[in-house]
Amino acid sequence: MPSDTMRSIPVFRPYHDEAEIQAVAEVIRSGWWGQGPKTAEFERRFAEFVQAPLAVAVNSATAALHLALKVVGVEGGEVISPALTFVSTNHAILYNNATPVFADIEPETLNIDPEDIARKMTPRTRAILVVHYGGHPADLDAIHALAKAHNLTVIEDAAHAAGASYHGKPIGSISPLTCFSFHPVKNLATGDGGMITLQNEDWAARLRRLRWVGINKDTWVRSAGKDTSQYSWQYDVEELGYKYHTNDINAAIGLVQLERLPQTNARRRQIAAMYDEGLGDLPWLQLPVVRDDVVSARHNYVVRLDERERLAAWLRDHGIATGMHYIPNHLYTMYRRYATPLPVTEREWKRLLTLPLFPGLTDDEVAYIIETIHNYHA
Ligand SMILES: Cc1ncc(COP(=O)(O)O)c(C=O)c1O
Repeated sequence: MPSDTMRSIPVFRPYHDEAEIQAVAEVIRSGWWGQGPKTAEFERRFAEFVQAPLAVAVNSATAALHLALKVVGVEGGEVISPALTFVSTNHAILYNNATPVFADIEPETLNIDPEDIARKMTPRTRAILVVHYGGHPADLDAIHALAKAHNLTVIEDAAHAAGASYHGKPIGSISPLTCFSFHPVKNLATGDGGMITLQNEDWAARLRRLRWVGINKDTWVRSAGKDTSQYSWQYDVEELGYKYHTNDINAAIGLVQLERLPQTNARRRQIAAMYDEGLGDLPWLQLPVVRDDVVSARHNYVVRLDERERLAAWLRDHGIATGMHYIPNHLYTMYRRYATPLPVTEREWKRLLTLPLFPGLTDDEVAYIIETIHNYHA
């Protein structure tokens, strides 16, 4: 085993081989770099993979969340969401001139707690924004039951959950709108990118306009002889859209990564099982759990302990990086005005530490991480 000083293990690292490089080279040589046939193919394949009727590609999950909330129409209302998330989840609510209302999390999974959602509902609530923390699906049956009873729309932030499933159904096929991220650290990475999966054709058509500055015909259709109208240059802009579309270079990477996702997620599960086994005997360390009725995408491996900074420093000194997901959003300056009682979030976030987990992490590196944690005196 190499000495500690030679080790340098990051928390996340994207996985690729020659196939991504070939796919990008092919698009570059094709002369069509923008949103075009590869994007359409990626949307089709992604929808098939998650068993959703429709998928609309965008350039990030932040954009996906912004537009998903926009087609639901939450302006002026409240959206219930967790505080323990990446800040984009809640920014998307503010982009829509709506108010984030934070609900607390379940101690076991760190996912939004349906009981607190019920407590936080008001006559102004329009939607529930669910985050699948670490790729472990939230309790969607309970959340959908609440939404149905109060006529609310459920939107899933599945940035961590590509390849996860709940009660045998893929994440992406369950709620009216599900948003995915293809940021470099995600299970399916394209550099940057996002996808909205959905069932409603009208919403999909509007999302396609909104992602392309409001224009009602995409450039590929107009330019590639696919436009059967008399004037291919003619289009209309009916509402203010955004520059949120993606491009075929990203989509080509996405197609390769999608095909490989079952294997890379299986490798993530294997590494998580090694951690579970290797760390299960440490009484001072709480390990993540996966409920029997879900398949987690195992986006990250978050352990819990008191004085986590000491373990983080110990691991850093041994060449092992760690992360912390996340600072609860109501603690950020601009979100302080939305603070509300969140006892579980307040207690648990201070104990979270994210260990390295990515498909390219070797068995030897996992063993080294486990051994280094064993050598730490809590
Ligand atoms: C839970 C969550 N939501 C949203 C996002 C935003 O994704 P993106 O970087 O694709 O905009 C991220 C990560 O970056 C995330 O972790």
